[in-house]
Amino acid sequence: MCGIVGIIGGEKGTNVVPELIRGLERLEYRGYDSAGIAVIGNGIERIRSVGKVANLRGKITDAMVGDLGIGHTRWATHGKVTEDNAHPIMSKDVAIIHNGIIENFKSLRFILQTEGYVFESETDTEVILHLLQRELLKGSSPRQAMSNVFKMLDGTFAVVAMFLHFSDTLLAMRHKSSLIVGLGKESMYVGSDAGALSDSCEEVVYMEDGDIVEMHRTDGIVFFNTELEEIKRRRHGVTSALVNIEKGEYPHFMLKEIKDQPNAIRNTILHNGIDKTLLDGISNILILACGTSYHAGMVAKYWFEKYLKIPSIVEIASEFRYRSPVIQEHTLVFSISQSGETLDTLAAIEYVRSNSNCSTIAVANVKNSATARASDIVFYTQAGVEMGVASTKAFTAQLIILASISFCHNDFLMDKLKEIPTLCEDALDLAPEVEKIAHIISKSNNAIYLGRGMMYPIALEGALKLKEISYIHAEGFAAGEMKHGPIALIDDQVPVIFLCPSGELFEKTLSNIQEVLARGKNVIVITDSNGEMAFPPDVAKIVLPTIQAEFAPILYSIPLQLIAYYAAVQRGTDIDRPRNLAKSVTVE
Ligand code: G6P
Repeated sequence: MCGIVGIIGGEKGTNVVPELIRGLERLEYRGYDSAGIAVIGNGIERIRSVGKVANLRGKITDAMVGDLGIGHTRWATHGKVTEDNAHPIMSKDVAIIHNGIIENFKSLRFILQTEGYVFESETDTEVILHLLQRELLKGSSPRQAMSNVFKMLDGTFAVVAMFLHFSDTLLAMRHKSSLIVGLGKESMYVGSDAGALSDSCEEVVYMEDGDIVEMHRTDGIVFFNTELEEIKRRRHGVTSALVNIEKGEYPHFMLKEIKDQPNAIRNTILHNGIDKTLLDGISNILILACGTSYHAGMVAKYWFEKYLKIPSIVEIASEFRYRSPVIQEHTLVFSISQSGETLDTLAAIEYVRSNSNCSTIAVANVKNSATARASDIVFYTQAGVEMGVASTKAFTAQLIILASISFCHNDFLMDKLKEIPTLCEDALDLAPEVEKIAHIISKSNNAIYLGRGMMYPIALEGALKLKEISYIHAEGFAAGEMKHGPIALIDDQVPVIFLCPSGELFEKTLSNIQEVLARGKNVIVITDSNGEMAFPPDVAKIVLPTIQAEFAPILYSIPLQLIAYYAAVQRGTDIDRPRNLAKSVTVE
C-alpha cells in the first residue's frame, strides 16, 4: 500500500530529487496508483502524477532541485485516483505525506472549513496539513505542532512533514502504520519500510506507535513521545538481504520468486530449529492471518490436529477481533504474515495480548516487522525479500515453518522434509508443460479449483493466485462440496483444476473428477507418478514427483503458481504490480 520516503541530504545543496525517485521505485512493489515528490528548493516545489513512478519521473525536469524532500506512492482510500489527491499534500509552507486512514477526518474537515480553511483534495490527509498549519499560526514550533496534531487524530497514520521555514528539518510521527528512520553516511532518511532506504543506509531505527521524530541536518535525530519527552530508540544494522533486489535474467519478480523456492525452503529448514518444549502444556492452537498467509494457516490446522493432536482453529485476522472471541487459557497463538505489517493481523495479535495471557508466535518474512515485534516468539521464513505482490516463495516457506513445528516429534517426517527442495526443483522443470496448459485457462473468464483434505486450502490458494494476477474469476472449493452448488457452474467451457495426489483421498477425488467429466470437458488434473494412470488419456495432466503425503500442499502449490503466472503472461497483465492490489495492507 502507500509508500513513504523522506530524505535530508548530507550537505546543504545536495540534490535529493534523484534519490527520492529511486526510493519511490523501490516502494512500487507495495502497490499504488499515483505518486509524487516535494522538495525545498525555491520555496516548496511539488510534482505529482497518476499511475507509475515512471510517469512521475517523466515529468521531473532539471529545474527541480532541493536538498530536503519527501516522496509518496498513494494507494487510494479517500478520494479517487487523481493528481489532486496524490501526495504530497501541501500549502505554501508545509508539505506532508501520509500512510493510513484518519477516521475522524469528516468532523475535523468540517471544523477546519468553518474556520475558513479551503480543501483542495478529497483526501483524509489534508486535515493533517491544515491542523499543522493552524498550530504554526498559533505560534507552535513544528515539533510542538506535530505533537498537538497527533493527539487530535483517530485512526492509523505514518506522517512525514517538511516546513519551508525550517529547511533543515523533517518531522515524522507514527501511530499503527510502519515508519523507519535510516541513517546513511551523510544523509538521513525516513521510509515506510527498510526496502525504501536500503542502499543508502547503514543503520535503521524502527519507530514505535506514539513516536515523533525530529531529524535535523546538523543536529541529528531525536525521538519524542507525544508529551515531547525525549525517548531512546535502538539502532539496527541494515541486512545485506535488503540490498540490490534485482530481477536478474527473469522477466518478472514473480517468476524469479517462484523459481527461488527450492533455496527459500532450504534456507528456512536450516535456520529454524524447533524447540520441542514449545508445545508443552498447550491445549489449543489459534492461527491468525490474511490472504495467502491464511491459506498457509489452513494447511497448518490439518497438520496440527492430525500430528500434534491439538485442537486448532484458523481465523481470518480481519474478522477475528470484531466478534469478541473468547481465548481459552493454554492456547498457543500463531500469526502468519509475509510482510509482518498487515494491519488486521497486527490488530488481532494486539487483541490476543489485551484479552489473554497466551503466548504469541509470529511467522514473518520481514525482520523486525510489526507482527514480529508484537509477539513473544518469532520464526522467520528465510525466503528473502518478496517483491511480487502475489505471494509465492514466502507462502511455501511459511508452510515449511509450520510443518517443522507440526512434525517436531516425528524424526522420519523431519528427515523427509529435507527432500522437499529437490522435489520442488523437479516440479519447476515442468514449467514448459504448465505454460501450455495455462492456455486453456487464459482463454476462459472463469476457473474452478478443487481439492480435498490438505489440498482444499491449496485449491483456494491456486484460485486466489489466478485472480490476483490474471484477473480471471476463479474460485476454490472442497471437492466434496462440489455437488452442493459449484457443480451448477460446470459446462463444457469452464476449466476445472483438480488437485489429486495419490494417497488417502485419491479415490474420492477421482469420483469427483468423473462427476465433472460427465458434465464438462475442460478438466486439468495435477497428480503424481502413482496417480497418473487412473485418468483417461484425453484429460490434461501435470504429473509431479510422488511426495510424502503430508508435504503435498507445498509441492502442489508450485504448478498452481506457474499456471497463474503463465495465464497472466498470456493475458498481458502487469504481473508484479497487479491492479488495485497492495503488498503490505496497512489499512483495514
Ligand atoms: C495482501 C497481498 C497478499 C497477501 C496478503 C497478506 O493482500 O497482496 O499477497 O497474502 O496481503 O499479507 P501478509 O503480508 O500478511 O502475508
